[in-house]
Amino acid sequence: MFEEAQYFAPVAEQGDGSVVVELAASHPGFADQVYRARRNAIAALAVNYRLGEPIPAAEYTEQEHEIWALVAGELAIKHRKYAVAEYLDGAARLGLPSERIPQLQEVSELLEPLTGFRYLPAAGLVPLRDFYGVLADGYFHSTQYIRHHSVPFYTPEPDVIHEVIGHANALANDRFAALYRLAGAAARRVESEEALEFVSKVFWFTMEFGVMAESGELRAYGAGILSSYGEVEEFRGMDIRPLDLKVMGHTQYDITKYQDVLFRAESMEHLEDVVGAFWETCDDESIAALR
Ligand SMILES: [Fe+2]
Repeated sequence: MFEEAQYFAPVAEQGDGSVVVELAASHPGFADQVYRARRNAIAALAVNYRLGEPIPAAEYTEQEHEIWALVAGELAIKHRKYAVAEYLDGAARLGLPSERIPQLQEVSELLEPLTGFRYLPAAGLVPLRDFYGVLADGYFHSTQYIRHHSVPFYTPEPDVIHEVIGHANALANDRFAALYRLAGAAARRVESEEALEFVSKVFWFTMEFGVMAESGELRAYGAGILSSYGEVEEFRGMDIRPLDLKVMGHTQYDITKYQDVLFRAESMEHLEDVVGAFWETCDDESIAALR
């Protein structure tokens, strides 16, 4: 899930109990009434979801399953070249279907025996404290819709390809799953909105857009890079900075274009030592000293 409010289409609950997703005029699916009706129905599943229930199945069209197959296939090829070993380990353990969109319930059932993580359906933006806080309990909020079929390699918002290919493959690896849990614990521990924002920015520059040195080359582990057909080919040419909490906390990002400032961990141990240890111990005071 991405953090920024403007990245998500607003979701409105109507007086009659129906749910409307307000797509922007620039959204590829804006003029497609059939797609919009499906988006509304899928958002309603999340709005009406109660914790502990199985996640209701979303209805996808054949065309949408074909988009998954196309994008998942292309990304898998790129991952072999560009993804870190722990992510590839997670993907191998998880064994996502390649020919059709997996239901979130199915993703949960594949993931839970591996690292204890389960998926929760999200209609759109989840408040930061909820989104991060439940990571500590092993829950991951995920959108369930898929991008519009007219532009298979582009999405203006985080869709099920991002949430599942980007995040679930990482969450299937023990070391990444532990880092997600620590981010959640940090979000629960901090009190001020500024400190929470700092925790979320570190998450953005690591779990969403992190890159890592591996066997002498730069590879990616961030879900935002590994779920993007374009960015996965571009990240090595971006402005790559050393992994530094203070600098991450002061770096602005624009979610509407490719992430051009990236932070490099020198190894998985380095990521755990810097970012994992930060999330494990940070509080309002230690974060104020970094800000
Ligand atoms: Fe995400």
